[in-house]
Amino acid sequence: MNLPPIAPHNPWMATATRKRRHVLDLDDFAEQEILDVLDAAVSMKEILGRSVPQVPILRGKTMANIFYEESTRTRLSFELAARTLSASVMNMTAKGSSVEKGESLIDTIRTIQALGADIIVMRHGESGAPYLAAQHFKGSIINAGDGRHAHPSQALLDLFTIREHLGQLKDLHVVIAGDVLHSRVARSDIWGMLRCGMRVTLCAPSTLIGDMQMWKASHPGLRISYDLDALLPHTDVLMGLRLQKERMQAGLLPALREYSTYFGISAERLDHLPKHAIVMHPGPMNEGVEIMPEAADSPRSVIETQVTNGVAIRMALLYRLSGETQA
Ligand code: CP
Repeated sequence: MNLPPIAPHNPWMATATRKRRHVLDLDDFAEQEILDVLDAAVSMKEILGRSVPQVPILRGKTMANIFYEESTRTRLSFELAARTLSASVMNMTAKGSSVEKGESLIDTIRTIQALGADIIVMRHGESGAPYLAAQHFKGSIINAGDGRHAHPSQALLDLFTIREHLGQLKDLHVVIAGDVLHSRVARSDIWGMLRCGMRVTLCAPSTLIGDMQMWKASHPGLRISYDLDALLPHTDVLMGLRLQKERMQAGLLPALREYSTYFGISAERLDHLPKHAIVMHPGPMNEGVEIMPEAADSPRSVIETQVTNGVAIRMALLYRLSGETQA
């Protein structure tokens, strides 16, 4: 597999080797690089389907998972991805580590470097923390979610799942419904989807959209709507977002029941989608709030496939950062 040329001005690339060094968001991915990762993930998914799903691509490399926030899907799928590629894995959660004794992020990064990590997969509650880590680590950083800012591997697995189910990305219409304001997944999805030629509409109460002028300035093609029912017949992909109560200030919503009535993804709403349309959610879900159990379990739902595809996408990212040229 040949890696594509990289924009030379990008500070997160290793210009000497012309390969990607860090994955911090999708804003520095060109469309072709996204498509290359998705294509690599097709090969990785084939490896995962083998009777013995292990290849020696990352033998001798070490990946460290360091999670300052909770995670099930991202942490486990990165671990599985690394082990499938024969890398060694270290796991650290802030709880139970020296972070609780006051160790700084930079000291933690230096400690993990001293233990021999080549790649750090990092989740942090503060937006921008992985960028700070990238300035102090000699290897590669993958952002596994930072505050409200970005979650690039989730966006890539979302794109992979859409292409797998609908056969294309270009010109498809995605409606992202829910707590956009607090969603790092939405922010990375928007970069990736628009770059791949998709049409994207955000749909939520205005208090959960945020600064409309900011959205328009950063993404001129992005549309915003407050009427989910009007969008449904013109939607190829309906993506629900979790209401992030832990990041939410009081007063953003009058009541959860009212929110569900106008913006919840229900089985009745699915009846108004085109026949081919799919339903997605990055998880974890608040079932009964932003998505009803019957919708999450419906034949249109690809939510579990998103989780499964997360392993192949993360294998593709680890492979890309390793700089190897043969799959
Ligand atoms: N989608 C996602 O990031 O899930 P986790 O928080 O379980 O990793």
